[in-house]
Amino acid sequence: MLHTIARRHYARRLPPFPGPIPFPLSHTPSPRPQAPGPSRYVDPAVAAAYARKYTRSPARRVSFFFERRLLLWALRQIGPVATLLDAPCGAGRFLPALRRRAERVVGADISHPMLALASATGPGAGGACPGDLVHASTFALPFARASFDAVVCWRLLHHLPDPAVRVRLLAELGRVARRALIVSFADAGAWKARRRDRRAAGGQPRRRVAIPAERFAEEARAAGLALARTRRLSRFFSDVACALLLK
Ligand SMILES: C[S@@+](CC[C@H](N)C(=O)[O-])C[C@H]1O[C@@H](n2cnc3c(N)ncnc32)[C@H](O)[C@@H]1O
Repeated sequence: MLHTIARRHYARRLPPFPGPIPFPLSHTPSPRPQAPGPSRYVDPAVAAAYARKYTRSPARRVSFFFERRLLLWALRQIGPVATLLDAPCGAGRFLPALRRRAERVVGADISHPMLALASATGPGAGGACPGDLVHASTFALPFARASFDAVVCWRLLHHLPDPAVRVRLLAELGRVARRALIVSFADAGAWKARRRDRRAAGGQPRRRVAIPAERFAEEARAAGLALARTRRLSRFFSDVACALLLK
């Protein structure tokens, strides 16, 4: 009931968003080279495992608690926001917290199984509002310029080894943001990233790309964004860093 009233209320006040996009993507493909990307998440088994990952042990739950706290810290720096985009939203683990802080929150992801899991996080029994979960690539978002007050991009950048691709990602996210971007990246200065470097030198496969904070700031500048603040998740236990970028 409350959900229906809220939907009518927002529908009056906010411009309409496109509904979920059928697969394959129905919008015109970009002439730029296709983004690479961690395509393994399109596998339903991988998506289901990812959805369980942050609740499967007390240590993971604590880590998720601090990660969400870091993201919400960044959001508080921006001040009140009416519209938010979470891209990629994955299985939607941040959506409930984001929905409590903005009037309208849209989640976008390239993986249908991830979006199906995210729809279970919607308010009420019926899942998310139609159109609030969108099948899309973060490299070609189906939204007009400055559609959202702020855009969150969590745990995608560290999958992208090519700096030019990272700049393209930031530029596309920045295009649809009106005020700010909150982006996570793996900070090469963190103890955990340095340990991973040592292991990679010993032949272990590298699963994520860590970059120094200064390099991240340069890439943000190349995408037309200014780095306002950064904060690490933990000094020793993680290399995840959160960056607040302003337009
Ligand atoms: C590590 S998960 C992070 C999800 C979420 N932000 C979180 O922290 O739980 C990475 C997500 O990025 C999505 N993804 C990968 N490449 C993408 C692309 N080009 N466009 C949109 N989503 C993408 C995957 O489907 C997956 O859900």
